[in-house]
Amino acid sequence: MSDAPHKLDKTLVLVGLMGCGKSSVGRRLAQRLGVEFVDTDDEIVLSAGMEIPEIFARLGEAAFRDGEVKVISRLLAEKPKIMATGGGAFISPLVRAEVERVAISIWLRADLDTLWGRVKGKPGRPLLAGDDARSVLERLMKARYPIYATADIIIDTHAENSHETVVEDILKGLEDFAAQKPETP
Ligand code: S3P
Repeated sequence: MSDAPHKLDKTLVLVGLMGCGKSSVGRRLAQRLGVEFVDTDDEIVLSAGMEIPEIFARLGEAAFRDGEVKVISRLLAEKPKIMATGGGAFISPLVRAEVERVAISIWLRADLDTLWGRVKGKPGRPLLAGDDARSVLERLMKARYPIYATADIIIDTHAENSHETVVEDILKGLEDFAAQKPETP
């Protein structure tokens, strides 16, 4: 159905672990729907005036998480758009509650090999800066997947899927989600 025009009446929030494709897919999804795209990590970097590794090193992870909640709440109050979040954002109960209230959450679920293939050797992610990055990612999967699983829509993505394919899957997922919603009396 994917050629029918979609009217976006709520922000779509992409969640999932580092390397699942939130930003690349989100950018294409926004183009497809003709709406604004925002990456919450970029917004945090802008407002802090520091890159993420520097925020973690100088201010600590807790300060980064506080900034993340503030930035996401501010962006969620704006007009509907596509929002890619950092991998830890949806783990915050505050963020989840706000997303649930005003937006639609979409988890891009990927297996460890897919994620690792995309993040290994890439700088900029302080949680994966150590020698045991693959095991850290695996631990984060175990801890976070049950929480990501509470998202409104779950989309499976694999290393061999193109971003366009994932966009199509999301559009289909949105239709199914809209069809499931109980009628308002
Ligand atoms: C994090 C993911 C990163 C970034 C920060 C922490 C996480 O974003 O927010 O390094 O806790 O999973 P991406 O998921 O976009 O890499």
